[in-house]
Amino acid sequence: MPRKRVAVLISGRGSNMASLIAAAKHDDYPAAIALVVSNRPDAAGLEHARGEGIATAVVDHTRFGKDREAFERALHDVLTANRIDLVCLAGFMRLLTPWLVGQWQGRMLNIHPALLPAFKGLHTHARALAAGVTTHGATVHFVSSEMDSGPIIAQAEVPVLAGDTPDTLAARVLEAEHRIYPQALRQVAGSKL
Ligand code: GRF
Repeated sequence: MPRKRVAVLISGRGSNMASLIAAAKHDDYPAAIALVVSNRPDAAGLEHARGEGIATAVVDHTRFGKDREAFERALHDVLTANRIDLVCLAGFMRLLTPWLVGQWQGRMLNIHPALLPAFKGLHTHARALAAGVTTHGATVHFVSSEMDSGPIIAQAEVPVLAGDTPDTLAARVLEAEHRIYPQALRQVAGSKL
């Protein structure tokens, strides 16, 4: 089976993107990272992707003002021009409209730093600590038009430890993210789409 061409969409640091790039270096991995797209020209992850010899693109949402669909059409055009099969959102900080989600239904993955359906949205680690949960974690799921709600592909649990701060908990969850995102992409890319 030919390797699926994957675009990773980022807005910042790109550590999950880097974990996908590293996994895709293995000969038996069913996906190739063909493109990294950022909505922010200054995203640190772009530098890493370029250093790995991966094509990058910037679709700067600020150029489209309040016209969310124009931004998404530009993004979609970049993806189709690059013959992308699968899209991985990795810290991509834009809410998507039902139009773009519909274009990529079943072919767009996201990673969320919590055990969905718990703690959708932002600041998940602080909220998990405030709620007093003893187990937290990360989820990879298909993207649906409702935020952080699509079918779950993989989850990893991490313990919440005494004395945890949002930062120490985030670091523990991030290690789990870097493990499960490549596994989830392997699973999806290796199956018939
Ligand atoms: C990760 O915690 C991811 O789960 C969330 O945003 C963060 C992005 O980090 N959606 P990075 O850019 O992958 O390092």
